[in-house]
Amino acid sequence: MLNQNQLNFYEENGYLKLSGMFSDEEVNVLSEALNELESTVDSRTIVKEKNGDTRSIFAPHAANKYYDRVTKLTRLVKSVEQLLNDDVYLYQHKINIKRAFTGDWWEWHQDFAFWHHEDDVPHPNMVSVMIFLSDMDYESGPLMVIPQSHKDEITGFEDKQINDELANTVSGELKDFASSFTADLKYTVDRSILKSKVNNHRIQTITGKKGDVLFFHCNIIHASNINMSPDDRVALILSYNSSKNFVRASKRPEYISNPDNSAISSDLLLESLL
Ligand code: SIN
Ligand code: MN
Repeated sequence: MLNQNQLNFYEENGYLKLSGMFSDEEVNVLSEALNELESTVDSRTIVKEKNGDTRSIFAPHAANKYYDRVTKLTRLVKSVEQLLNDDVYLYQHKINIKRAFTGDWWEWHQDFAFWHHEDDVPHPNMVSVMIFLSDMDYESGPLMVIPQSHKDEITGFEDKQINDELANTVSGELKDFASSFTADLKYTVDRSILKSKVNNHRIQTITGKKGDVLFFHCNIIHASNINMSPDDRVALILSYNSSKNFVRASKRPEYISNPDNSAISSDLLLESLL
């Protein structure tokens, strides 16, 4: 459960970082499972970097029990219920991997631009939970956010057309949606809007240790840099939605945008990952 100070901080700033929410043992279990996941997961759910490395894996809960259990942990779901003030369901789940020295950037964007335009989710009452499976240092391309930028609606954006080079980084049916996940994003924030927001609120870089967790609002403007460090940067991002705010007409497959808005009921909640 989050306390009132934490809830106030999130409401004001659009993000909240909590240290040590996962033990070393829990992080290790997820990291070890990741090694085999890349070969066992449905290949359609893998997004690659331009150099062929794995960039993201969607819906890992479909392939591994620990990645399924993590979505139902009391400590996360109860916190998210408080932040969204409603019952919740898991809308999207992905692992983001930035390989040592090469893992590519995420341009400045708002997640809700994608979820609203691609999946027809009506309201920005959604939150993402980023679980750090590796340390996030300045050198490894940690998430950067613009505090308070969640208070505005979706800002101006460029709607980029997908090019062949980009399309080749994903397979099959994901091709049509590639520009939602690759290093060349479809909905990015207009540069002049970005500049004025940064002038007002600066950029907050979210460094931390493995096991830390970051909650961030679906409308907060965020980005991250190339991983210049000698270690892989790995994070799990679970995005939850209010049950009433479900996907109306998604063009995207269910491993990207879950059409089942059944609330995670209390009897499904788990105290432990292990
Ligand atoms: C995202 O914006 O979805 C991911 C950003 C990151 O992993 O740094
Ligand atoms: Mn994002």
